[in-house]
Amino acid sequence: MDIRAQYAPLRGELDAALAEILDTGAFILGPRVRAIEEAVSQRLDNRPCVGVANGTDALVIALQALGVGPGDEVITTPYTFYATAEAIARHGATPVFVDVEPVGACLDPDLIEEKVTEKTKAIIPVHIFGHAASMTPILTTAAENSLSVIEDAAQAFGSADGEWAVGTMGDIATISFFPTKNFPGIGDGGMVVCSDPDLGAAVKRLRFHGSEDKVVFTEVGYNSRLDEIQAAAVNIFLPHVDDWNDRRRQVADWYREAGLGQHVTLPEERDGVRHIYHLYVVRHPERDRLRELLVEDGIGAVVYYGTPMHLQPVFAGLGYSKGDLPVAEEWADTGLALPMHPNLTREQVDEVVAAVGRAVERI
Ligand SMILES: Cc1ncc(COP(=O)(O)O)c(C=O)c1O
Repeated sequence: MDIRAQYAPLRGELDAALAEILDTGAFILGPRVRAIEEAVSQRLDNRPCVGVANGTDALVIALQALGVGPGDEVITTPYTFYATAEAIARHGATPVFVDVEPVGACLDPDLIEEKVTEKTKAIIPVHIFGHAASMTPILTTAAENSLSVIEDAAQAFGSADGEWAVGTMGDIATISFFPTKNFPGIGDGGMVVCSDPDLGAAVKRLRFHGSEDKVVFTEVGYNSRLDEIQAAAVNIFLPHVDDWNDRRRQVADWYREAGLGQHVTLPEERDGVRHIYHLYVVRHPERDRLRELLVEDGIGAVVYYGTPMHLQPVFAGLGYSKGDLPVAEEWADTGLALPMHPNLTREQVDEVVAAVGRAVERI
């Protein structure tokens, strides 16, 4: 990731927006928050959008708005960033981990039904690394069992499952504007995308202490607002996200053309999915050694996520063991993220591929 290269052409616009915020003193829930909520809503079928402080709060608030509470169960993927599972546990609910699909590494829809119990309230598919989850069968299972669906879209703004844009399929979708995300801010920020105005109003109340008017408090909520500085940055970046995503897809094509697939297993797209390569995760059985050799060679290579959620110490009490969710565990044992950002050049891609080739020969 080369964040500064990505922002460099927009620096003048960012500086001007920051200066204007300082001049006006409108720091919290001002015009820029309303503008970005409106702009994202227009992209996502006019769904009500509510800016919040980060993508984790977006999940916590979404679960509360959908009525998830102590004793409930929420089905999700073990192959995600911890925030997805943490948000469930934060409410005293239990994350129920279901294995992922071999292609795309998202929640396997065929394995959900058998995990549904009387306590199940919701499903959280995560569009991991920018690859859309298999939403059509997930939505069918959810409808048959009266479950809510939250799309965790922190890594996948602009991705799609067939003709359906990520963020327009669940009851709620959550977005993160963390600076390394494919749709970034310049600090922490997030958004909740709702399928109807009542949910939108509930999320709006929850982000401000459970109040509509700051006078009467009807629920226990949060202080979780997208601030104007982040909103300014996100407004400036939004018109560029599609181009950045296209360039990420171009980089993925270059990796393939340059022969990376001779050395490691390349990420694939399920039929009809538009992968936006928030992360470019290849697989190799000797992943840790490969990473060491690449780092020695000056190539950025990072493991996401080496320990799947069902094997994290925090969830030891849930009773999972190694081997329970083999596909997620295989991804966790073998996945390695290689350099991926919109400003990578063909020459840099060739350099990475050559370094991977040299490293694999030495293993
Ligand atoms: C899949 C996923 N969900 C949720 C989050 C949480 O977002 P944030 O870091 O903005 O709280 C992240 C970000 O790291 C993420 O990758």
